Amino acid sequence: MWVIGIDTSCDDTGVGIVRDGKVVANRVASQTLLHQKFGGVVPELASREHTQVIDGLVERALSDAGIRLSDLGLIAATRGPGLIGALLVGLSYAKGLALALGKPFVGVHHLEGHLYAALADHPEVEPPFLALLASGGHTHLFQVPAWGHYELLGATRDDAAGEAFDKVARMLGLGYPGGPEIEKLAREGDPKAVPFSVPLYDQVGYEFSFSGLKTAAQRFVEKGYTKPDIAASFQRAVVDHLANVVIRAARDTGLSTLLVSGGVAANRALQERLAEAGLRVLFPPPGLSTDNGAMIALAAWRRWRGEGDSLAVPAAAYVPLA
Ligand code: KG4
Ligand code: ZN
Repeated sequence: MWVIGIDTSCDDTGVGIVRDGKVVANRVASQTLLHQKFGGVVPELASREHTQVIDGLVERALSDAGIRLSDLGLIAATRGPGLIGALLVGLSYAKGLALALGKPFVGVHHLEGHLYAALADHPEVEPPFLALLASGGHTHLFQVPAWGHYELLGATRDDAAGEAFDKVARMLGLGYPGGPEIEKLAREGDPKAVPFSVPLYDQVGYEFSFSGLKTAAQRFVEKGYTKPDIAASFQRAVVDHLANVVIRAARDTGLSTLLVSGGVAANRALQERLAEAGLRVLFPPPGLSTDNGAMIALAAWRRWRGEGDSLAVPAAAYVPLA
């Protein structure tokens, strides 16, 4: 079955096509340049831009996949969370397509899309598993007992992991997004040189906290530690913290498969640290970590049980996954 997935939750228009769980097209139109001069995403401009590019992107994705509209078996779109006007563009487009083609429609939670991106190259993996979502806006650890069922084990008490990378990068005079910049600079530094302490080291639960590391980084900058040493030691503390929580959850739940997604999943130090822990760790392939439509199609395909959602599914700015 051919599934099309559309994501217009924020400032990227994403259209992807999946065939039997395999990504065959993934087109993303980024609006970064459009919003840059305003210093942040302007919602009205984002919606307008989605409206202008969505048709062309769908055509290109269909041509990448070598199929026609009528070949599609399932139409999926992000229903939330996100910017309401932006969401409505993709969601309404998908519903219109489903109606016109007489094909089923599925509304997908944006985080559910991110989560399943880690399965793009692993169609054989089945629940139960753990899923860590670490991006610029989220740090959530879920237990997934069955397709479409999510139990939140823990989340961040303050900043998201990616947000901490971004803020510390700014302190060090590095560019945005900060994660890749810190990772690069960390290669020249000593991860043991600066005494960052690992957050919530003694907790029994599964929460995360990153704001203390951010404050500590500021202090270490003032004390005159070198930038590469701060980058390397900060990254080590973040990675240790994420790994500690995840390993504890794996031990307590008896689960040994872990999906990691969101921008921070691209961090090599994190990937290596988790691989050493003896878990089966799955990451999204390149291009599927950031917002895209293919992950929405993947999630819809995973959840598909022969029945579509009602076309009345609303767009929602805030909607919890679990
Ligand atoms: O999932 P994402 O692309 O966007 C959303 O937040 O929705 O995540 C972006 C975040 C940024 O904070 C960025 O600094 C971080 O992911 N990031 C990284 C790396 N690449 C991106 N953090 C650490 N190491 C990286 N290599
Ligand atoms: Zn996202």
